[in-house]
Amino acid sequence: MRTQVGIIGAGPAGLLLSRLLHVQGIDSVVLENRDRAYVEARIRAGILESHTVQTLRDVGVGDRLDREGLHHTGIHLQIPGERVHLDFEALCGRTVWVYGQTEVVKDLIATQLDEGPPLLFCVTDVQPHDVDTDSPRITFTDADGVAQELQCDVVVGADGFHGVSRPLVTAATGGKVWERVYPFSWLGILADAAPATDDLVYAWHPDGFALYSMRSPSVSRLYVQVDPTEKIEDWSDERIWDALDERLGLSGWSVNRGPITEKSILPMRSFVSTPMRHGRLFLAGDAAHIVPPTGAKGLNLAVADVTLLATALVRLLQEKETDLVDAYSDTALRRIWRCTHFSWWMTSMLHTVSAAQGGDDFDHQLQLSQLRRVFASEAAQRELAENYTGLPIER
Ligand code: APR
Ligand code: PHB
Repeated sequence: MRTQVGIIGAGPAGLLLSRLLHVQGIDSVVLENRDRAYVEARIRAGILESHTVQTLRDVGVGDRLDREGLHHTGIHLQIPGERVHLDFEALCGRTVWVYGQTEVVKDLIATQLDEGPPLLFCVTDVQPHDVDTDSPRITFTDADGVAQELQCDVVVGADGFHGVSRPLVTAATGGKVWERVYPFSWLGILADAAPATDDLVYAWHPDGFALYSMRSPSVSRLYVQVDPTEKIEDWSDERIWDALDERLGLSGWSVNRGPITEKSILPMRSFVSTPMRHGRLFLAGDAAHIVPPTGAKGLNLAVADVTLLATALVRLLQEKETDLVDAYSDTALRRIWRCTHFSWWMTSMLHTVSAAQGGDDFDHQLQLSQLRRVFASEAAQRELAENYTGLPIER
């Protein structure tokens, strides 16, 4: 088999890159080691920045998002007894959409299986080769157990945090990794309950952070901060609702309860690996960086990476110019570090660290002071709004 761009991974990064290249006349093949049902069932975050929505529309996969997505013009921030609304539209003229990453992935897969290029599920032993030459290859075993070779001009590792691509880049370049593991996790639930709030609520509470989000007018997505050692079996539905009530409650207002359809505990980390390229192997999305979910930057960063990379690859493969691929890693990393800082800042402002993990009441007072500053200052609100709704993609 031969293609121009061999893409490893059918998450949002790999699928959208394939689509961006397709509409600009570049061939690709996407190789995914899981099956379609598994990829489409993974529950992830659900906030799309303005540029993400525009990119999805531009490549013809925005129809269901426009019909079913919930347009949100702000968020609520809360400390006990006080909830403040930030109006993003007034603060920075940009807004966000609530539409699950799972739905974005389903839309991208449906379009790709319909219109191409090829998307192969259930492949194993995926391995890039010769990436320091102009004729890289990917070897793999297809779903029927047959050994295959895909010859390419370029290989893209969009294979997530546990993929095969990043270790190759790191080993070949002597790359550098930055990492912070946070001393808390999120317990997330999906519930068949109408959201009791118009916009998302991000709440600081001495017991820990809580977030009220949603997926539709009848489905809520909620999170509570828990200790990383907590086990999901120890959190009955009632215990989860009680914690949500305690942390999100306000006098005269409460969380709407309903049957919980999914619950899981997610660890929180920040991770950046550089560079994002070795020879003709490029990294995009979670393969190169992870952010904690506070602020929902993960998917949007993956979209920003592949938007930049698609432009660079079109220039390389159609115009034979290397300037944009040479600039890709540094250009992408500037925005990645901005989002890494914003996610860390939101996380640090909103999560309490237990005494056992070294936290104390001094930290709490600093957090409350920072939150009150955001409540009171239009400049502080604007800084949050610009970052939350997504900074422009530098090209
Ligand atoms: N071979 C083929 N496919 C692989 C391999 C491999 N060796 N290793 C991993 N994959 C696949 C995974 O099964 C997954 O479908 O690569 C895909 C990577 O997708 P994501 O993990 O969703 O990463 P990305 O596309 O970069 O999207 C980033 O996803 O994790 C969330 O919060 C994150 O929202 C962010 C977004
Ligand atoms: C979600 O809806 O899953 C979500 C929303 C906002 C966040 C994180 C997750 O900051």
